[in-house]
Amino acid sequence: MAGDRSKPTVFRIIAGKRFELTLGDITRERVDGIVNAANSRLAGGGGVDGAIHRAGGPGIMAECRKIGGCPIGRTVATTAGKLHAKRILHTVGPIWRGDGGEPELLASCYRTALALARDEGLASVAFPSISTGVYSYPVEEAAMIAVRTIMEFLGANGLPTLVRMVLFDVKTLEAYRKAAGNS
Ligand code: APR
Repeated sequence: MAGDRSKPTVFRIIAGKRFELTLGDITRERVDGIVNAANSRLAGGGGVDGAIHRAGGPGIMAECRKIGGCPIGRTVATTAGKLHAKRILHTVGPIWRGDGGEPELLASCYRTALALARDEGLASVAFPSISTGVYSYPVEEAAMIAVRTIMEFLGANGLPTLVRMVLFDVKTLEAYRKAAGNS
């Protein structure tokens, strides 16, 4: 099983050492880029968004206000405040409605965040499970899309050299582990 939060188990799978799954709090990550599950107004909120703004300090929100917003499926970058990262990559996941448009929008979140990381020269990037909290995306389906999109991107690009999915609970970790074919 996944172990406790203080000593998260890391599963290194596929693509050599470039893709990892771990259980934990993403605000404690030491990586070049931390991805935030934001909303389209970049207005902050609960979940991982609230945790990132709380831990990173008010400078991140000041930058978000200047940027003003971000469409669903797209990603914008800010500095990372007090977090141990160079950049926060705010991506806006789709709200699950089951009307068919969500898979492409969710894939686009991962693709645009990874492309921005590559273009900014970020070597390591940590993702939370986009859309599977407040936005209610079924986690098994979201995990399949996330893993497939990340693996495709890593196959086609040299940067980032490391992508780590930081999952907040065991159920979510297990869904991603299954999606990655490591169950
Ligand atoms: N570290 C890692 N993962 C976290 C953390 C954390 N500190 N806190 C929450 N999570 C997990 C949740 O348990 C869930 O698995 O992140 C996943 C995504 O959940 P949400 O944060 O609710 O994100 P999302 O479903 O994309 O909804 C976005 O929520 O907070 C608002 O402003 C945000 O309106 C936006 C919406």
